[in-house]
Amino acid sequence: MDSIHICGGYPLYGETRIQGSKNAVLPILAATVLVDGVSTLKNCPDIADVRCMVRLLESVGCSVERRGGQIRVDAGCIRETGLPREYVIRMRSSVVMMGALLGRMGKVTISYPGGCVIGKRPIDMHLQSFARLGVELKEEGDTLTAQAKCLQGGLIRLAFPSVGATENSILAAVLAQGETQIENVAREPEIDALCGFLCCAGADISRTGEDGSTLSIRGGNTLHSCCYHIPADRIVAGTYLLGCMAAGGRICLKEAEPRELTALLEVIEGMGGRFSYGQNTLTLTAPKRPQALSHVCTAVYPGYPTDLQSQLVAALALAEGESVVEETVFENRFRVVPELVRMGACIRIKGNRAIVKGVASLHGSRVRAMELRGGAALCMAALAAKGESWIDDRHFIDRGYEALEQDIRNLGGRI
Ligand code: EPZ
Repeated sequence: MDSIHICGGYPLYGETRIQGSKNAVLPILAATVLVDGVSTLKNCPDIADVRCMVRLLESVGCSVERRGGQIRVDAGCIRETGLPREYVIRMRSSVVMMGALLGRMGKVTISYPGGCVIGKRPIDMHLQSFARLGVELKEEGDTLTAQAKCLQGGLIRLAFPSVGATENSILAAVLAQGETQIENVAREPEIDALCGFLCCAGADISRTGEDGSTLSIRGGNTLHSCCYHIPADRIVAGTYLLGCMAAGGRICLKEAEPRELTALLEVIEGMGGRFSYGQNTLTLTAPKRPQALSHVCTAVYPGYPTDLQSQLVAALALAEGESVVEETVFENRFRVVPELVRMGACIRIKGNRAIVKGVASLHGSRVRAMELRGGAALCMAALAAKGESWIDDRHFIDRGYEALEQDIRNLGGRI
């Protein structure tokens, strides 16, 4: 049944361990293509997007073994440079396979990854980066072929600190001849995880510039077998924290990394939440009712994460007072709002702002997930809503949440 059933209206009490990070493991899986040997990744989440990336690795010749949270990728013989369309259109982040295949094979053919409900999600900056390294691009219909006789290091200046464009630039540069400087890079922790994996395999990457917004890569090393532990998923952790702010109660998250969530922690404290920190644990005590926030604006890291915007709107729907949430990273990321309104929320959209007038309670309803983080936000709202809710099209949520039901049960929710 592609639906989640929740009986809401009860505060959350409990603790759960946070899964490995989706947005860290996906580029690292692509990076294993650069390694002429075996890469062993630990703490990998078992989610649909990871299974899709594994199919892409197998389609180019990698042999992949999964045992529990461990994935072992043998990229000793890459024999294909074309990426199958069915996987590329299913998961946008397949685009980072371009940088990896260019780095290892000097060629890649891919059908243009489509946009999705949250935005067009073009890849112009990715392609500009490749061109700076001597890659020739050819488009035929919606198929793109990128090729370079020999990748030469160079200077890449990103117009915007795009996470994917940063990752693709790194992956293409790490085996190129000579040095590459990438300026105005994204500073999300997932970039550090990718660089951590690559350095563990023998790459030479360092952050320079006073604010760490430049990466220097000395290419040409052959990468060797290595073992790497995937960090915890900061967005999954933030999702549950905001669910607790909506439903009330007190939850403890194990293995969450508070230092990667400072913008969220400040916002939650502004809503009346209180944190305590233990050995590898983060505990939140929620107020009876959250306080409204005059204005929260999403931004690139270390600003408030766009991936936690829908979950924040869901929590503020129950706040005392009126809040404004502004989305500055994607152009269409308020798709969850009509579904929240069906649950009794009082929210109106003005341009890229959601004006959220807090209500005393939400009521259970049948709603539909339309994308990953909006779907997760509906689950958090359903935990707070009085009565029963059904969230249909749950496959969107399974792309990023490994064990949502178990996590919510651990936290005392009825799902
Ligand atoms: C990554 O997507 C994440 N996905 C997204 O998480 C996240 O929302 C996003 O970064 C921002 O933090 C993964 O890591 C797999 P961007 P990405 O390139 O790389 C525009 C989730 O829920 N842009 O930083 O695609 C783009 O349209 C997902 O886990 C260009 O215009 O994000 C967007 O408006 C959703 N041209 C903005 O930049 C380009 O060439 C940020 O995109 C590239 C991007």
